[in-house]
Amino acid sequence: MTVIFSVLLFLFFPCNSQFSEPAVAVEQQPGAGIKGIPSIGLGTWLSDKGKVAHATEYALDLGYHHIDAAWIYRNEDQTGKGIAASKLHRKDIWVTSKLWNSHHRPAEAERAVKESISNLGVGYLDLYLMHWPVSFIPNSDGNQLDKSVTILDTWRTMEGLVRANYTRHIGISNFAKVDVEAILEMCTICPYAHEFETHPYLQQQEFVDYHREIGLKVIAYSPLANTNPVYNRGLPYGILEDPLWTGLAEKKNVTAAQAVLAWGIQRGTMVIPRSVKESHIAQNLRALEIEFTKREMEDIAKADKKVRLSNPGKKWGVPLFHDLDDPTMLDGETKAVEL
Ligand SMILES: NC(=O)c1ccc[n+]([C@@H]2O[C@H](COP(=O)([O-])OP(=O)(O)OC[C@H]3O[C@@H](n4cnc5c(N)ncnc54)[C@H](OP(=O)(O)O)[C@@H]3O)[C@@H](O)[C@H]2O)c1
Repeated sequence: MTVIFSVLLFLFFPCNSQFSEPAVAVEQQPGAGIKGIPSIGLGTWLSDKGKVAHATEYALDLGYHHIDAAWIYRNEDQTGKGIAASKLHRKDIWVTSKLWNSHHRPAEAERAVKESISNLGVGYLDLYLMHWPVSFIPNSDGNQLDKSVTILDTWRTMEGLVRANYTRHIGISNFAKVDVEAILEMCTICPYAHEFETHPYLQQQEFVDYHREIGLKVIAYSPLANTNPVYNRGLPYGILEDPLWTGLAEKKNVTAAQAVLAWGIQRGTMVIPRSVKESHIAQNLRALEIEFTKREMEDIAKADKKVRLSNPGKKWGVPLFHDLDDPTMLDGETKAVEL
């Protein structure tokens, strides 16, 4: 039975990567299943375990076709309940999950991908990402670094997960540019996408352009910048109260959140806003309908703050993002934040 399922999967989803399809809402023909990653998805990090099932079902029934999950979010089982309850067929949903840092060794990786698939109840993943270019010793207390496994070793392990039909595609997350290059030099099955933090306060336009040139899709996480309440870099206000964004939103008769997400989509990144509120989930989807003029895009580009909000590098003792804007400062320095 498993063998038949695997053969069918292989026929429908040839496990190859590195395509560069343009960003569209849903690359799909009726009944044919989803081909490329949709431009907007539902994020699930910190989504309340008691609410994420309903949020997922609601989003899928409303028109979302893309769910961003991860083993470490510890709510994949509830997210899976929402997927199961939705009216969509499995083949019409793009499901991403992520390999946690303590699962980089081959046996751990296989166990982890199976657990994510089982919790999500999906049979296979569309995309499996190396969550961070950092390996922890499995089952160790705390976040003890595992020097015996490199990101290249982990990539080879992940290629095996494609060959074993656990996932259609593999990708990376939170990588520095030099680490992306290292993977590209050695990959047999190459990354489909790179998920990293990017929003109007951390635009990283050159890095985004680099991905377009090499045919790697960019999934923009925390697309609403410091709206996520766990982010605290001392910014004087949230992006949804930023006069630039409230002004643009008023001009277009939309909300600031819709405007910020629309900018992310227009620059060719996939945005994955997280919400468990029906009204927010619904309004975020309508970001697909908003367009900015060239002049507006230029004004937004000038307002980049180069402020990184998600950076556990210091906590882990790893210099992350070292060739990108606002990298980890291991010695305790932090960049001053101004608006
Ligand atoms: N690969 C990685 O390492 C990584 C890291 C971080 C995040 N991610 C992924 O990216 C997803 C999104 O990032 P995020 O969760 O950090 O932040 P986000 O989606 O940018 O912002 C989430 C916050 O925005 C609020 N919100 C959503 N829509 C809104 C709207 N229309 N109006 C007002 N507020 C709104 C949500 O609250 P309500 O629930 O009240 O709407 C929530 O507090 C995550 O959930 C996760 O899937 C990946």
